[in-house]
Amino acid sequence: MNRRDFNSILAGSLVATVFPRTRLSSPIQSDLRVNGDRINAHLAALSEFGKNPQGGVSRVAYSEADRAARAKVMDWMRDAKLEPTIDYAGNIIGRRAGQNNSLKPLMFGSHIDSVPSGGNYDGDVGSMSAIEVAQTLAEHGVVTRHPIEVAIWQNEEGGLFGSRAISGQLTTAELKTVSSSGKTVEQGIGFIGGDVRKLDQVKRRKGDIAGYIELHIEQGGKLAASKIDIGVVEGIVGIKRWDVTVTGFANHAGTTPMNERHDALLAASRFVEMVNRVVRSFPGGQVGTVGRIEAFPGAPNVIPGRVVCTLEVRDLSDAKIDTIFARIAMEAKSIGSQNGTQFAFAPAHVSEAAPSTPRMRAIISEAAKSLGLSTRVMPSGAGHDAQAMATLAPMGMIFVPSIGGISHAPKEFSRPADITNGANVLLKTLIAADQALP
Ligand code: HGY
Ligand code: MN
Ligand code: MN
Repeated sequence: MNRRDFNSILAGSLVATVFPRTRLSSPIQSDLRVNGDRINAHLAALSEFGKNPQGGVSRVAYSEADRAARAKVMDWMRDAKLEPTIDYAGNIIGRRAGQNNSLKPLMFGSHIDSVPSGGNYDGDVGSMSAIEVAQTLAEHGVVTRHPIEVAIWQNEEGGLFGSRAISGQLTTAELKTVSSSGKTVEQGIGFIGGDVRKLDQVKRRKGDIAGYIELHIEQGGKLAASKIDIGVVEGIVGIKRWDVTVTGFANHAGTTPMNERHDALLAASRFVEMVNRVVRSFPGGQVGTVGRIEAFPGAPNVIPGRVVCTLEVRDLSDAKIDTIFARIAMEAKSIGSQNGTQFAFAPAHVSEAAPSTPRMRAIISEAAKSLGLSTRVMPSGAGHDAQAMATLAPMGMIFVPSIGGISHAPKEFSRPADITNGANVLLKTLIAADQALP
């Protein structure tokens, strides 16, 4: 028996193992593979949009670079025989009919917006691989049972704005948020071709989507360190962010004695230290970050009277995030009472923790195994559009190694071969899910 026969039996048994009642509707070549070179060429071309002289990229949502790159992505979707449209929320959705269009669509994708001074793999790998999977199916005449939708979500980095519009979690208040581009979210959605007046129309209900699959770089360093090819994501952390305002009293730096100051920056610096201490004091993998801070009026000879900063806490348990925040808020109060300053916390963003489904994990693991790739089940410390989609449909996520565990930085890197592996797992997962899901 040669490898090809073994593989086709494996493909057949891949579904038969997981779901004995399912029969393949058409013979899908088990040695079907993506064109890895094409994915990596698209990644290189995409990295030109918002390129930074120091390397990496600043293609923040709603920037010129974001809009230009989105137009290019839609061209690549057309090459892949998808019909791309921009929905009212500004997401790019590339559709293709299935054998049975009364079935709900199978969705897969990621994002192409970056953080300021970010890397060229976060979101990009999943987006280019999703388009490649669609192109590979088209080039081999494979028509899936379900209609398929490749989604390039808008403004993932700012807070999953595109995917949470679809899942109905986006609030009207959040549309006023000022994004990294300087535009408000509602201005940004208009700028990239959406229409906030019709946002309601993009909402989907539970069951409107047959399943959602996302390939992404791990961003942490576990897979690379343990030389594992594929991460099977068990769940995505919950993320809560607050805008913190520390109010003191601005005064003359020369004439105000040290013990008569209500220095907001001194309180804020104690706050940053306290957050680190409190978050570490709990057992488990939770993380807490003060990522942005600004002091006002911001002059060398004026005692800062106000400081604004961000606070973010993440964990697989939303309840634990609340417990940690309660402790932080309590300790902040006592920091304020030491020098007559006040802390205020305004909730800025919430994305709930989201588990993948055992079914999707089984399919992804089997797909990786059928490709001879090693796997590891692991949580995601990063947030993803998949956590919004998990509120609507069975969700599965696939990780590929990030070298050195570097992300949200110019030195973010994943090897072309690992990316190709991930895309092949995505291809196999989509084919099996298409056969297996109702
Ligand atoms: O913030 C995150 O975790 C993701 O990279 N958006
Ligand atoms: Mn991402
Ligand atoms: Mn990111």
